[in-house]
Order: sequence, then C-alpha cells, then structure tokens
Amino acid sequence: MSAPNKQYDPVEVAVLSPEEVTGMRDAALAAIAAAGDLDELKAARLAHAGDRSPLALANAEIGALPPEARAEAGKRVGTARREVTQALATRQEVLAAQRDQWALVEEAVDVTLPWDRAPRGARHPVTTIAERLADVFVGMGYEIAEGPEVEAEWYNFDALNFPPDHPAREMQDTFFVAGPDGAGQSGVVMRTHTSPVQIRAMLTRPLPLYVVSPGKCFRSDALDATHSPIFHQIECLAVDEGLTMADLRGAINAFVEAMFGEGLRTRLRPDFFPFTEPSADVSMECHICRGASTRPGGEPCRVCRSQGWIEIAGCGMVNPKVLVACGIDPDRYSGFAFGLGIERSLMIRHGVTDIRDTLEGDVRFSRAFGMEV
Ligand code: PHE
Repeated sequence: MSAPNKQYDPVEVAVLSPEEVTGMRDAALAAIAAAGDLDELKAARLAHAGDRSPLALANAEIGALPPEARAEAGKRVGTARREVTQALATRQEVLAAQRDQWALVEEAVDVTLPWDRAPRGARHPVTTIAERLADVFVGMGYEIAEGPEVEAEWYNFDALNFPPDHPAREMQDTFFVAGPDGAGQSGVVMRTHTSPVQIRAMLTRPLPLYVVSPGKCFRSDALDATHSPIFHQIECLAVDEGLTMADLRGAINAFVEAMFGEGLRTRLRPDFFPFTEPSADVSMECHICRGASTRPGGEPCRVCRSQGWIEIAGCGMVNPKVLVACGIDPDRYSGFAFGLGIERSLMIRHGVTDIRDTLEGDVRFSRAFGMEV
C-alpha cells in the first residue's frame, strides 16, 4: 500500500476510476456467469474475489487516496465487490443444485434391477443322491470303495464269472478301449457296471468286508429318453461269515427307505447274474400309489404303470466262484451284493421322464433339486 497522497492525482489512481472499477466488476461477473461447474466457479472466485484479484488490490489502494477521494472510491469499490460476492453466491447455488441434480440422475441406483445375475452353479442331483446313499451305508459301517472307469476286462467280466462268450461283452454293450496299435484286443474296457469294484475290494481289503461303491459306468446304448451311454450305479457288497439273503434283504430295505421313504415294502424275484447265486431283481412298492396301482380317484398310476411295484435293482449272494477268484474261502465266508442305476432312481424318485436331462448339464435342471449337500 502506498502512503496517503496529499495531492489527489487522478492519473496515479486511475485504477479506482469508475470505468476501471466497472470494468473489473464486469469482468468478474462475466467470469462468474461463464463458470460451467463448481470447479470453474472456484477458479473465477480466486481470480476475481481473491486476495490478489483486481478488486481486492483496488480496495487496498483506497487508503492511498487523499481523504476527500476515499469515500467515493470506497463506495464504488465496495459496491462492485458486493455485487461480485452476491453473483458468486447466486452462481454457487445454481451450480451446486445442478451438480446435485446430475448426481441424482447419473448415480441413480435402480433398486428394481436383478442383483443376482452372476451365474451360480448347482450340485448335480446325481452327485447329491450318490453321496446321500453312500452316507446312509457309511452310517451302517460300510466303507466307500472306488475303482477306475477305464477297467481291465478281467475285473469287469472274467473275475465276475462272465463266460468268454457272454453277450454283454459284445460290441453293442461294451465300449472296448483300442489297443496301442489302434486295434481292439487291448483287454481294457470302459466299465459297464460298478461290480468290478467288488473284485478290487475283495482282493485288497481285509475280511469281513462291507463296501459301497458309487460310480460312473458306460454302455454303448443309443441315447434316448430312457437310455444313456454314460450313467451311474451304486453298489453294495458285504462279505462276512454267516451272511444270508436275510441280510441282503435288510440292506436293500435300508437303501429303499433312505432313498424313497420309510415303510416301503420290497420284493425279490429270481433273476440271473453271473456273479451272484442265487440272483434276484429287486422291486419296491410304488412310492406314489403305495402298491394300489391307481391314484385316488381311480386313475391309473403312471409312475409304476399300474404295476404297484417298481423294479429298481439287481442283487444276489456273491457267487462262490467269484469268492474263489478273489482268494476267499467260500466254505467260511459268504457275501451279498446289490447294485442299481442312480439316474433311474433319480427319475423314479422325482418323476424325471427323460434321462437326457441328467446329462445335459443345464443348471436349471440341477437347481430344481436344491442345493442339498
Ligand atoms: N452289476 C449289475 C448290473 O449292472 C447289478 C448287480 C450288482 C446285480 C450287484 C447283482 C449284484 O446290472
């Protein structure tokens, strides 16, 4: 700030002339009006109302004027500064409101949008059921035994007492794995059932033996609503002293109750499997009509095709020849086994009419069975 002038020199204080002050004010108002957002307004405030702004400097010059000029200049500069302050405040309000409005639009959250679009998987019902059944048997003291899906023919057939010319060995039933030269005769097949796991268990585990074997099986069936070349079985094997068909029956009943519900009767009818003797097929009382073969109202039961019974498994007492093949003394030990298709059980239990639904891996199918673990 300069020292007070005794002589008022209009040239020296031209900065305080009405034109200059008006010019400063107009420049400030123009910059404020031109500010398009709060950042630009902040810059305009600094330039036109800050400590180093022309009007602030002009204000500081007032003290340097001769006393008679100060009042008028002070009034002029003061008015200009008030106008600028007022304009800043007004513009601030407008721009802040604009910013808020913009934020409401741009940052709006549509709470009605679906929030769970990230695709989630579901456990496949075949896995869930296989585990649940295996658990039931583990609870009764059985152990889980597994074997390879690509299996030696000897385990899949020979040791199970399939004669060399048994039709099941033929190409229409069995996938033979090509030999190293690309030809057949490798002695290796895709296992056609879980029964080879019986052999592996009897050869490797100490007696008495109680095992349950869930697993994938393969047969060269054409894919249609009721056949699939890839499916799952679960199989139970017990070898102990003094086991009889009554024990087999008890194990089957436990299985049926766990899978289909309590109190369902079972029925064994003679059948044939090379590896069991005697052999039987297992039917259970239809879990829908409970053996009545009709639904309330008299219409036929579609689930059991009005039979009242549904065939679900094969079973029998382990053939002594199989015990011998595994080095077990058939005079001391006896065994029972039963095996069944998991997909088939799933279809019966849940009314699935097309086995292909279990193969396609569509999560919408799996999800319908829940996330039971
Ligand atoms: N392995 C037989 C099949 O695939 C089922 C079975 C298992 C039968 C155990 C008897 C005993 O049809």
